[in-house]
Amino acid sequence: MNEDTARLSLKIERLEALLAVTKAMVTQHDLDKLLDIIAHEAANIVGAERASIFLVTSDRRALTSKIAIGMEETGLAFSIDAGIAGYVARTGEVIVSDDPYGDERFNPRIDEETGFKTFNLATVPMYGTDEKKPGPLGVFEVLNKKDGDFSEEDLEILLALSGQAAVAIENARLLAELRLAQDKLDRENTRLRQRFLKEYAFENIIGIAPAMTELLSLASRVAESTANILITGESGTGKDLLARAIHGRSPRAEGPFVALNCAALPESLLEAELFGIEKGVATGVEERDGKIAQAAGGTLFLDEIGDMSLATQSKVLRVLQEREFTRVGGSETVRVDIRVIAATNKDLKAEIEAERFREDLFYRLDVVELCLPSLRERREDIPLLAEHFLEVYRLKSEKDIKGMSQEAHDVLVSYTWPGNVRELQNEIERAVALAKPGETIGQEILSEKVRAAAPSPLRPMADAVRALETGLIARALKESEGNKAAAAKLLGLSREGLRKKMARYEIKL
Ligand SMILES: Nc1ncnc2c1ncn2[C@@H]1O[C@H](COP(=O)(O)OP(=O)(O)OP(=O)(O)O)[C@@H](O)[C@H]1O
Ligand SMILES: [Mg+2]
Repeated sequence: MNEDTARLSLKIERLEALLAVTKAMVTQHDLDKLLDIIAHEAANIVGAERASIFLVTSDRRALTSKIAIGMEETGLAFSIDAGIAGYVARTGEVIVSDDPYGDERFNPRIDEETGFKTFNLATVPMYGTDEKKPGPLGVFEVLNKKDGDFSEEDLEILLALSGQAAVAIENARLLAELRLAQDKLDRENTRLRQRFLKEYAFENIIGIAPAMTELLSLASRVAESTANILITGESGTGKDLLARAIHGRSPRAEGPFVALNCAALPESLLEAELFGIEKGVATGVEERDGKIAQAAGGTLFLDEIGDMSLATQSKVLRVLQEREFTRVGGSETVRVDIRVIAATNKDLKAEIEAERFREDLFYRLDVVELCLPSLRERREDIPLLAEHFLEVYRLKSEKDIKGMSQEAHDVLVSYTWPGNVRELQNEIERAVALAKPGETIGQEILSEKVRAAAPSPLRPMADAVRALETGLIARALKESEGNKAAAAKLLGLSREGLRKKMARYEIKL
């Protein structure tokens, strides 16, 4: 073999070693093992007995041979002030020596400890790509070249490999940081989810009126199924609250709850919100996931579905039927697993009549219909809700409020509440804001419209008339032994007149 061929084959060997390292960088994710491979290849290529990689600790006071990413380095460490490796780490210089014992920077103690005798060495700094970090992040050292001394070419290859090792170390550190951040986000997410589930639990829905207790019991049963649900009810009756409670009690509770108000957006924007959008559909538009994709594995809450356009309705129908959709501006079909809860304060049957709502979509959504009663249909809940909101706003405002007078309660119960629970909530918030600390909330604090509904002062007269009439009718019926014609005569009424009064006062024989 002439000299040229020998040089060439050496070069090929080195390139192959570099290639092996590059491959390992892609396939080997364990940093310790990867650095082992790099050190091993380095020793091989330059014909050295040993190769080591040392890292500078984060306080830059020591070097360590143990690679421990993401925590404080725990391995064998020695002061950055000691030895040739320490010198290189401090100064960033390259050191090649064929007489280490003659070099005052050399620390013979390490040889003594390991029983290894160093007769020549080459040590290079490892630099990361982050310019903000001061100095080398470590050093790369090869010891005892078997034939001859370390050459220029050896140094070249060492520097190339130390660059590779630095990249691997930086990547691993980044990954460790990302993992930490991810863990933190996961924990935060779990905490928020638990709070969400607690805040929107069924237990927080107040209602003792039979119409409410029946509805809540039905709702909690269907929550456990996968059926789509349609929640109807006037504005402010608690549709939103119920939808969240159902999600929280469903097998999908751990999944996302994603709400979209269909009335808030024009058709084109609503579709982009629902289905997502491809990049470049309009100038400057970035690719984005829609609410449907975000709700995968969880619940999609389509609020005010009665306001959705017919065109969008047919696309939503496809999601419900085929469990798939296409992004705006896209052609690819995306499959998705969601449960839909829809809500509306419109009469969807009337909307179907008027051809503003698709009948097939209605039947898909209306697998179970939960109709929230208006507040005036469950007046017995008004005092409870009022006390609940009083407590909420008392705590929020930190105002010392003693409670609410009986009169104020009576006024609240008499009002018709067209805005339902939300209107009551606002009324109490207002009252708490106006009330003087240390006082009881009286009816005079309530808003004008609510007070206008106060029981009329003439009311006691109506009650007295009722009491008098029912008493007289009862006596006459008793005296005539249940004969209505005779009783009517005793009372000076026509038979028809008596019948009407009995019906009005619900008097039965
Ligand atoms: N039964 C209830 N118990 C306690 N709070 C309730 C109850 N019902 C409604 N609320 C409260 O009343 C407010 C209005 O409720 P929600 O937003 O759920 O009503 P909605 O039916 O979705 O109204 P809209 O039709 O206007 O969207 C919310 O603050 C909610 O927490
Ligand atoms: Mg709502």
